[in-house]
Amino acid sequence: MEVTPWEVKGEIDYSKLIKQFGTEAISEELLNEIRRIAGNLHILLKRRFFFSHRDLDKVIEDYKKGKGFFLYTGRGPSGKMHIGHIAPFLLTRWFQEKFGVNVYIQISDDEKFVQKRELSLEEVEVYANDNILDIIAIGFEPSKTFIFKNSEFIGKMYKKALMLGRKITFSSAKAVFGFTNETNISLIHYPALQAVPTFFEKRRCLIPCGIDQDPYWRLQRDHAEALGYYKASAIHSKFLPPLQGVKGKMSSSNPNSAIWLDDSEKAVRMKVMKYAFSGGQPTVEEHRKYGGKPEIDVSFNWLYYLFEEDDKRIKKIEESYRNGDLLTGELKEILIEKINSFLEKHKERKEEAKELVKEFMYEGKLARKMWED
Ligand code: TYM
Repeated sequence: MEVTPWEVKGEIDYSKLIKQFGTEAISEELLNEIRRIAGNLHILLKRRFFFSHRDLDKVIEDYKKGKGFFLYTGRGPSGKMHIGHIAPFLLTRWFQEKFGVNVYIQISDDEKFVQKRELSLEEVEVYANDNILDIIAIGFEPSKTFIFKNSEFIGKMYKKALMLGRKITFSSAKAVFGFTNETNISLIHYPALQAVPTFFEKRRCLIPCGIDQDPYWRLQRDHAEALGYYKASAIHSKFLPPLQGVKGKMSSSNPNSAIWLDDSEKAVRMKVMKYAFSGGQPTVEEHRKYGGKPEIDVSFNWLYYLFEEDDKRIKKIEESYRNGDLLTGELKEILIEKINSFLEKHKERKEEAKELVKEFMYEGKLARKMWED
């Protein structure tokens, strides 16, 4: 198993990652505390898709004391977005709604240009503009959300990047990110830029993200206090598995492993029917007799983590699949219906998002403050 911001290989063992990265599992007690404040728990929290954290307890403490906190997350625009990429944005939006706090969203166009040799600057910008619409479609509060492209906002970030960059030696960056003599020097400097938004406010910063992004926060935490800021807090998710099996990561490089946010109803049906790995038995007779295995069934996993919020309904689906009453084809139909109804709404909101870009990036209350500061 190997998990870095740029590569995820092998079968992922999430409890091992907690040990390897030195993070903490999210305790029942902490979840209960969040439920008490928020009134309920987002599906991604209650089903433990978000499974690990750094200092989330301190963020909640600060909130209770009235000190507040802010949220930060991001996207590297190297292509279209798939349904795995939106998980951190959905949770960020939920935290914003429940806790009423500011959100900063970094579009790391610089990172993707220097990391992916096959992409031109123009191509990255096309993806960045399209990804921004997908992100706005999630429904953030415009007066409390700032979305920025690094290539545009760099003038306002550069001094903070220098302050941090001067503290990070090549040998420590190499140890955290696995850089080699062949790595280009722009990519070697990039981690400083991904850390900068954690310094946008002088309070704790909570970062909802996939666990692959944690190495950045480790570096930030080594130096933040010496620079007069808080150590970054994070809440980490698992990876939404690819259609082909529950142990991997849905990946942009294999188009048939993912459902894209712009997939048609027909494409969704075709991919789920053809590729979604099934935990069912080879024949209907055997399935009725022995039952299926929801834990290794991709359709069940997607419903469990993302698409079926109702606890009673998911339990019923699990039981009837396990005892053979529910067939693989029927389970897939439930998932197809859920994905298509989600995507239909998403596409409508993405159309509406075109009118909101200016507000989120330049003219909204928070955006204006950031450009003027
Ligand atoms: P990127 O664009 O690769 O991914 C965006 C976010 O999606 C998460 N992610 C996934 N989550 C669930 N299932 C998957 N299969 C899956 N694949 C990716 C990533 O962990 C990430 O949270 N360097 C970043 C961009 C960035 C950023 C940030 C991310 C800049 N600042 C602050 C998080 C927080 C990147 O390339 O992410």
